[in-house]
Amino acid sequence: MLKPGPIGVFDSGYGGLTILSEIQALLPEYDYCYLGDNSRAPYGPRSFDIVYEFTKQAVLELFDMGCNLIILACNTASAKALRTIQQKDLPHIHPDKRVLGVIRPTAEIIGSVTKSRHIGILGTAGTIQSESYPIEINKFFPDIKVTGEACPMWATLVENREHENEGADYFIKKNLNNILSKDSQIDTLILGCTHYPLLLNKIEAFLPAGVKALPQGKYVAESLKDYLFRHPEMDSICTKNGITQYFTTESPQKFSEAATIFLNKEIEVKRITLE
Ligand code: DGL
Repeated sequence: MLKPGPIGVFDSGYGGLTILSEIQALLPEYDYCYLGDNSRAPYGPRSFDIVYEFTKQAVLELFDMGCNLIILACNTASAKALRTIQQKDLPHIHPDKRVLGVIRPTAEIIGSVTKSRHIGILGTAGTIQSESYPIEINKFFPDIKVTGEACPMWATLVENREHENEGADYFIKKNLNNILSKDSQIDTLILGCTHYPLLLNKIEAFLPAGVKALPQGKYVAESLKDYLFRHPEMDSICTKNGITQYFTTESPQKFSEAATIFLNKEIEVKRITLE
């Protein structure tokens, strides 16, 4: 019998805080443990094997902290590590614990959002190269045409707090123009990276009429709520005191300063090492 514990939320860095804040808003009574692997971010350009190795270390650490359910709030980790962790590792490490990602909840709802049935995915190089979005989306909606565009600078602009400056405009316009010239019938662009909601104002300003940008946090939160409702055995081992603890593999002070951009509040952060 597992001991009740908080829900783990993992990201390569700060980006997953955009997912965590939506989850906290929808499910405020639960306890959460957020872990950002900031010292090894970005994950976007890293190989499949490295993203898997780093993500597995983070998952094991969150299990050690007492989490029974973990959300990989990072598209790159969801794209490159989730399947192997779910299918290969969990059955023999912790058969009763669960790890979920952010790609499937987004893929599941996209059919009710697009009218043209042409959508675009904006993400890191790793997420786009993995083809995870087209594969997942076409499982639910085989008629939807999916086009990807890697935006290697976007998460870096946010990490370096350059995202609201004029210099960011060049990269945002460039990637939006690229994807819309690959398929002019696109009516919905999924923000398939947890950092991109912070660029939403600029993205929306540069998009032509009739094309909308879709952040995924709300759908991930709704999907988690639905999962807990459908799995009372898991819900009963999630503690509910409304407390969130924050952990980073980099400087806690740096994390806490940057986190104010994502969460709009001061937080207390502890440093841990992953290996
Ligand atoms: N959080 C990652 C994602 O959602 C992006 C940042 C990174 O490259 O580590 O894909």
